[in-house]
Amino acid sequence: MSARHLAAFGILAFFFLYFFSSGFSFQLWLPSLLVNTARTPDFGRYTPPRVLSENQFPLNDQHRRVIILGDVHGMEKPFQALLGKLSYDPSSDVLVHAGDIIAKGPHEGSMAVLSYMTTHNITGVRGNHDQKVIEWRSWLEWMRALDGGKSWLREFHAKWEEAEAAGVDDPEKWAEKHMKKSKSKWWKKIPDGWKILSDHYRIAHAMSDTEYKYLLSLPLVLHVPSAHAFIAHAGVLPSDPRYKPYHPRQPLARVPTLPKGISHDKTHPEKTIPLLRRLQETAVLTDVPQNNDPWVTLNMRGVMGDNSVTRGKGGEPWSDIWNRDVSNCAGFDQQRHLTKHSKNSLPCYPATVVYGHAASRGLDVKRWSIGLDSGCVTEKRLSALVLDSESQKSPFGDEEIEIEARKKISVPFGEGTGRIISVSCSS
Ligand SMILES: *[C@@H]1O[C@H](CO)[C@@H](O)[C@H](O)[C@H]1NC(C)=O
Repeated sequence: MSARHLAAFGILAFFFLYFFSSGFSFQLWLPSLLVNTARTPDFGRYTPPRVLSENQFPLNDQHRRVIILGDVHGMEKPFQALLGKLSYDPSSDVLVHAGDIIAKGPHEGSMAVLSYMTTHNITGVRGNHDQKVIEWRSWLEWMRALDGGKSWLREFHAKWEEAEAAGVDDPEKWAEKHMKKSKSKWWKKIPDGWKILSDHYRIAHAMSDTEYKYLLSLPLVLHVPSAHAFIAHAGVLPSDPRYKPYHPRQPLARVPTLPKGISHDKTHPEKTIPLLRRLQETAVLTDVPQNNDPWVTLNMRGVMGDNSVTRGKGGEPWSDIWNRDVSNCAGFDQQRHLTKHSKNSLPCYPATVVYGHAASRGLDVKRWSIGLDSGCVTEKRLSALVLDSESQKSPFGDEEIEIEARKKISVPFGEGTGRIISVSCSS
């Protein structure tokens, strides 16, 4: 290879590397370069995991409670009834939702629940339905910014309002028919599989800017280091299913490295263990690749035989994998880890996942996971997990899980106990 070739190759390689490593700036100037291939922007607008402090998730304060809500889906009456039953007091209680606060239920209910959550800035995570509404709203903003997009949308809505006034009651079907009749180029701007005038679309269209900002502020996962807990709409995986749980690449299979300047005091391990646990829990979110995929934390139900994550009913429920892995946690002490427990034991401590999403399983209580979606939108129940300092002081014996969890009143949460309070959703 001549020096000239080498130089040319080097320059090319540099540009390729630059493009592939700087997706952000690439996207910014690409439209001006290729005028006719207007790329659609990223409508996802995800907010990464957020950490809650002990004050934001108070389990040791006898005057405060933490209340975690299952999927509300715009069921406003049961939602208010549950807050009433709990004598919810915003000045002392912390309310947290596990996602899917809107859609599927009545439209007006979704708007009312969204307004409540926004006004009170309720802590929570995004659900797959909240996500769909966010995507439609960011699509609407993009359309309105395009030349002619705003007026096309306005005309489309005027036509729909006319049809609605004339008694058409299925907006989605009407939109489909309307789309076939009019040959407008604008229809092509709707991403494949998206249904304009669906409930998600109508919520996205009707909500205020403040409500949109509230939804955008919802992270994919909440991490509470002080409670050793995660809250995610669909769930979190403890390990990458493509490798054995004790493979060194798994965060639960290695003691995290302490930051420079801090050393582990073997005679006083209690000094560094909280920090190590926090680092390890963070690593579960960052180093298990599936947990970095928003689709997984929003939709996952199980893991298939080929190790892929599924939203379908097949495969092994992810919560079984979670409970199996973390029940093998034997602490960071290697000696104990090697002698006391079976060969499967891992150098970690267990953490709890609270989630929603899986209505088909109903209330799903296991030792280290609590599924709170008890199917309110299908007229079953709306449930909340209530945690307070009293219940946190009483440990939940392993033998009790079967009996108590079946009654679904007292449930294990970390080293203590929580209670499930629910209301009926049938009208
Ligand atoms: C809502 O709460 C979040 C998280 O604490 C905070 O960052 C945000 O500023 C709050 N928003 C408003 C409008 O108060």
